[in-house]
Amino acid sequence: MIYLDNAATSFPKPPEVIKAITEALLAPASPGRSGHAPALKASRIIHGARKAIARLFGLPDNSRLVFTPNITWSLNIALNGLGLKPGDHVLSSALEHNSTARPLARFQKEICLDWEIVGPGPDHLIRAEDFKVRLRPETRLVVLNHASNVTGSLAPAKAIKEAIGSTPLLLDAAQTAGAVPMADYGQWADLIAFTGHKALLGPTGTGGLWIKEGFELRPIAVGGSGSRSESLVHPDFLPDSLEPGTANTHGLAGLAAGVEFLLKVGVDKVRQHEMELTQWFLANIVDIPGLTIIGPGPGQESRVATVSVVLDGWSSSDLAGALEKGYGIMIRSGLHCAPLTHQFMGTFPGGASRFSFGYFNTLEDARTAAQALSELAQSGHKA
Ligand SMILES: Cc1ncc(COP(=O)(O)O)c(C=O)c1O
Repeated sequence: MIYLDNAATSFPKPPEVIKAITEALLAPASPGRSGHAPALKASRIIHGARKAIARLFGLPDNSRLVFTPNITWSLNIALNGLGLKPGDHVLSSALEHNSTARPLARFQKEICLDWEIVGPGPDHLIRAEDFKVRLRPETRLVVLNHASNVTGSLAPAKAIKEAIGSTPLLLDAAQTAGAVPMADYGQWADLIAFTGHKALLGPTGTGGLWIKEGFELRPIAVGGSGSRSESLVHPDFLPDSLEPGTANTHGLAGLAAGVEFLLKVGVDKVRQHEMELTQWFLANIVDIPGLTIIGPGPGQESRVATVSVVLDGWSSSDLAGALEKGYGIMIRSGLHCAPLTHQFMGTFPGGASRFSFGYFNTLEDARTAAQALSELAQSGHKA
């Protein structure tokens, strides 16, 4: 199998991740609850995961980092917790995933939120000035997908934060955490949401949200926290306030090991490797007759290792099926939970075929994929 679906979830996971999860499963896991030795060990595992993520993002305070089951929950905790009100104005990029677009669409319908969408430029990139000129006194929030899971476009997050000043920025780092160096983000970002199972190399069921000092988020769920148990009022301090219920010790053991692995290798090195494969792939598919690259093309550096294409005569799912059947290549077809992006890129509703490279892919994988695309283009298939 040649796995080129790392934007969906990364594969393989480093052996360290598998070992950490297995070891955690071999002990009772009740972090922050019981006082016996295995429970204390489980608490240390969670603490280790918090420390590792804090290093990755350069966070000043890891108690303001909360763990969640995935970034969809992290983004919902942020969007629902900020207390958006009727008439508030929210800006987002046009390259949002449904995990921010659907909550925003719901607010738009239910509380008349004024949601304004900022499109990419002709180079498929999101620009800081386009947010700045749309700011209004009632702008409460800017929502930004750090890198599109369709086009691979990497947004200039720091420049956008500089352009919007004190307006809060909610960053969806699903496609960048672990793939793009972010070690200074803790110095300027307001709300960073991430998921554990993509470039952070952890298991599914893990994710989190970092909340800068000064932001109070109203919890969307309350319950057992292992703290202030005498009270029927849920704790109001972080991380307990936003982490109701028993934590996913097993998953977080794996996430900590994945992040430790990345810190050891160096995210710069991961990025360099993934960009080498991506640029090679782009340069070698760009001239295939009938093929259109949906997003930044060869030589454009503001991107991540996700390349979507449309091939004349092929539906995205037929192409994915032919790649799997004929070449053992796994990719993702369709709309990638990002209909807005496809609308902006002119690929709605058919979608596109998405190739996404990870740290463990090789140049040979990229070569095989480019060759396969070229052969399929010549085969003259009609969908
Ligand atoms: C940009 C982006 N945001 C959010 C998500 C949602 O991730 P999860 O399913 O882990 O919550 C994804 C997943 O594909 C994504 O690519």
